[in-house]
Amino acid sequence: MKRAVGIDLGTTFSSITIVNADNVARPIPNAEGMFTTPSVALWRDGSFFVGQPALDMVQAASGEERERLTGSLIRGVKRMMGRPPVGGLVSNGYRTDPVEVSAAILAKLVHDASTLLGFPVRDAVITVPAHFGDRERSATKAAAERAGLHVLQMMNEPSAAALTYTHGQQVEPGAALVFDLGGGTFDATILQLGTHESRVLATKGIEELGGINFTNALATSLRRRYEIETKTAYPNDIAAYDQLVNVAEAAKCRLSAAQSTRVMLAPPHGSLLELEVTRKQFESLVGLLLLQLQVVVEQTLERAHKTPSDIQKVLLCGGSSRIPAVQEMLARFFGRRPEATLDLDLSVALGAAYQAAAYAEVQKDVQGQNGQRQEAPQQHTPALQLLAEEGLVIDCVSYPVGIAVKNARGEAIKLVMLRPGDALNAWSQPVPVRILGSTATFPPIDVYTGDGTQLLAKEYLGQISLALPLGTPSGAHATVMMRQDGSGLVQIQINLAGRDLPGNLQRI
Ligand SMILES: Nc1ncnc2c1ncn2[C@@H]1O[C@H](COP(=O)(O)OP(=O)(O)OP(=O)(O)O)[C@@H](O)[C@H]1O
Ligand SMILES: [Mg+2]
Repeated sequence: MKRAVGIDLGTTFSSITIVNADNVARPIPNAEGMFTTPSVALWRDGSFFVGQPALDMVQAASGEERERLTGSLIRGVKRMMGRPPVGGLVSNGYRTDPVEVSAAILAKLVHDASTLLGFPVRDAVITVPAHFGDRERSATKAAAERAGLHVLQMMNEPSAAALTYTHGQQVEPGAALVFDLGGGTFDATILQLGTHESRVLATKGIEELGGINFTNALATSLRRRYEIETKTAYPNDIAAYDQLVNVAEAAKCRLSAAQSTRVMLAPPHGSLLELEVTRKQFESLVGLLLLQLQVVVEQTLERAHKTPSDIQKVLLCGGSSRIPAVQEMLARFFGRRPEATLDLDLSVALGAAYQAAAYAEVQKDVQGQNGQRQEAPQQHTPALQLLAEEGLVIDCVSYPVGIAVKNARGEAIKLVMLRPGDALNAWSQPVPVRILGSTATFPPIDVYTGDGTQLLAKEYLGQISLALPLGTPSGAHATVMMRQDGSGLVQIQINLAGRDLPGNLQRI
């Protein structure tokens, strides 16, 4: 049994997986016996309750206590990673933040898995949306470390799903789209599939588009219909809102199998109303969301220099790709039905387990040689490529990064150093800088990220800093290079007088 695990830290559901002795990845059930754990947390009696136990606690309460616990249940923190909400997060009077909540979710997955497996889980590959930038990835890594994990790699979710697809099977070479629509995020990734190795050509996503948006669209419509039919305002309290969203969520899922369904709205302190919702009605409410998804698919194709007819396979992934209107949009766009061969809920987590097992194998080899623990090797190393017979997914830079420099006229210009599609672990072209004035520290350089090929002012990542070697003369010339490691995190290198020095990106 390989000891490293894969973890899909999802917006709505998370799971943990491991490759068994038969070389097949399997999900590890949690203490409640489920393969997926709701990504929710509730602070109570000095600690977080995570997943179903937290939901059960809310369910079991009544009256004011129920209302208080409902308002204290923290959901969807993945969308806040690296961007904590302005007012902060509070659960049951306890002030927290998205990293701490994610750490609590990870700790529950790891605790339950360790109990079941009979050994402490420590090494993990954790998946993140491909469109996650440095800020979100750094926050995810911080959460994992806080949960006591050693992160072997953060892997892009669609790439993990592609690895599950290619693992151990003869894959027909060709271009494929992984369409990953989860609970809170959306990624479209185009890969060149190969028997031993698949390569990501382009990826694009929307941070805030997932099943939650589809549920909210239906919830808003149900509330409107309630107000029209009962001629009363829908109660404006947390418990009533929670009930509305739960009813909408369940109805949305039923409408993926049925043409119509009945819903019962019974808000506390309100009237009772039964309504019929048809799939057609639901589809008319989510037209704009479908259009947004299609536009992203078009943009991803453009980035990969492909047309719809070049795509030989459309692989569905993520729970929300069950929505028939989503599948129909893809079928119309590509002229063929998408493939639902992957397990929509678990393929991302299973791919992470395959990647984790590959790292564990490499580490075993390395440890065998010198008996010491080594940092996980980066993607593209010969060691990982040795495992290519089992299928390997080579990822690429998915978001641009660059710096602000002053030109000869003293104007600040933004210079893109890493572009989507560039190779991971490959250093960018060096950018020359001059050290003037104080010679103790490197002149602070602002680092920006953005979208597509553009650096955006509001996407400020932080500053490059470096303690200069003693005696560095004023006016010295240096160069700055940048790369994204196998986890998509930004790394800096500075060359000064022929010496390579690791620069530090001081993230804000
Ligand atoms: N039958 C169904 N019809 C429509 N939507 C469904 C169905 N089953 C599940 N979903 C939706 O799938 C979503 C959960 O999918 P998944 O577990 O892949 O997301 P996640 O991994 O938590 O989120 P993300 O990948 O965005 O971080 C929920 O929004 C849920 O409503
Ligand atoms: Mg997911």
